[in-house]
Amino acid sequence: MPKSWVKQRKEDGYYKKAKEIGYRSRAAFKLIQINEKFSVMKNGDLVVDLGAAPGSWSQVASEIVGKEGRVIAVDRKRMKPLDNVALVRADLTHPEAFESIREASEGDVDVVISDMAPRLSGNRHIDQAKSISLAEIAFDFSLEILRKGGNFVAKVFQGDQFHDYQKAVASRFDFCKSHSPKASTSSSREIFVIAKGFRG
Ligand SMILES: C[S@@+](CC[C@H](N)C(=O)[O-])C[C@H]1O[C@@H](n2cnc3c(N)ncnc32)[C@H](O)[C@@H]1O
Repeated sequence: MPKSWVKQRKEDGYYKKAKEIGYRSRAAFKLIQINEKFSVMKNGDLVVDLGAAPGSWSQVASEIVGKEGRVIAVDRKRMKPLDNVALVRADLTHPEAFESIREASEGDVDVVISDMAPRLSGNRHIDQAKSISLAEIAFDFSLEILRKGGNFVAKVFQGDQFHDYQKAVASRFDFCKSHSPKASTSSSREIFVIAKGFRG
């Protein structure tokens, strides 16, 4: 890891704040900011978090849904346990993963959130195509598991296919917008698609 990158990260305000609060990653603040602006999750909700490791989005979701609600965290990487969060270790490119999530959820889900990201190759076009493909998996899954009126958030790297993706999501929800929270670094090409009110 280059020294300059390590230094830059340590000086980053969100990184420091995450360490102080005990969030597993600075990404926590992206979800906090998204929820403050769009109210995608609330107390009592059942939330499925796709691409959840190391777990900061699940920490935030668990705080929001409280003891009345539940979070299911899914990742191909092993995760350390979290309070009020069920962990499912699965690769979401494998269809069997969805059976495991369905079993863990025991019914319709209020919110699907996805911060899934591919291993970066350094080639913009390849990375964007892989990111879209993960976001499509998250969208297809949300169509199967969300209750009517449910909400969806997915991270996508911006590029050629982004607008088609957003259009496809918008066609199934009452509200759909793309948003870049302040906690996303300025050099990042990530953007979040926020969709509310699944039409079923
Ligand atoms: C940016 S990290 C997520 C950070 C997380 N939201 C947090 O706040 O701690 C992206 C995650 O997506 C996961 N991921 C990527 N492709 C996946 C796949 N096919 N199946 C399951 N998880 C995947 C990676 O393992 C990685 O942990």
